[in-house]
Amino acid sequence: MKFFVDTAEIEPIKELAATGLLDGVTTNPSLIHKSGRDFMEVTKEICGIVDGPVSAEVVALDHETMMKEAEVLRKIADNVCIKVPLTVDGLKTCKALTGDGTMVNVTLCFSANQALLAAKAGATFVSPFVGRHDDNGFDGMDLIEDIRLIYDNYNFGTEILVASVRHVTHVLESAKIGADVMTAPPKVIMDLFKHVLTEKGIEGFLKDWAATGQSII
Ligand code: G3P
Repeated sequence: MKFFVDTAEIEPIKELAATGLLDGVTTNPSLIHKSGRDFMEVTKEICGIVDGPVSAEVVALDHETMMKEAEVLRKIADNVCIKVPLTVDGLKTCKALTGDGTMVNVTLCFSANQALLAAKAGATFVSPFVGRHDDNGFDGMDLIEDIRLIYDNYNFGTEILVASVRHVTHVLESAKIGADVMTAPPKVIMDLFKHVLTEKGIEGFLKDWAATGQSII
């Protein structure tokens, strides 16, 4: 499973990229607002840190203006992935952009039928929002299971990018289901490394090592 980080903050992106485990970045207008940075400038900077896809979202609601915005965004770097909402105009834009080889992430997906439409529109990625699905009384992971089943039934190439990930269990469940990608805030990715027994084990080994009086280097 590929790991994307869901942020527009440069420092955590650099920190995660340095682990060698980061495959891409996703942003959205709210994350750009939170960063306080200029959209074009910060997107260009992120594209220079990671080799993988960097999602940058259009804000227009009509197809024609979405295409104009996408034209500006895709000039930022070769690894920009245009993010469009799951609407009729968004999917029209998706079809047009992927048709000429541009990566597209179809976002704000909340049903398996919507995911089916995104795949038919040739989306590179579809982003089902599991956390927001949970918040509204549904089970986000059931949605991922349904999309996996449908995509496998028809061998769709669209990658399932689990978004709105709130905790490590969302990551675990996504991997068990066979989602292609997950995008999570930096803290959730850092939490994946942690286990109390790992910390306790290191503490014990270091105590005993110190007692040997030896050194490796
Ligand atoms: O980037 C889209 C998605 O991951 C947003 O997550 O936590 O705002 O629901 P959240």
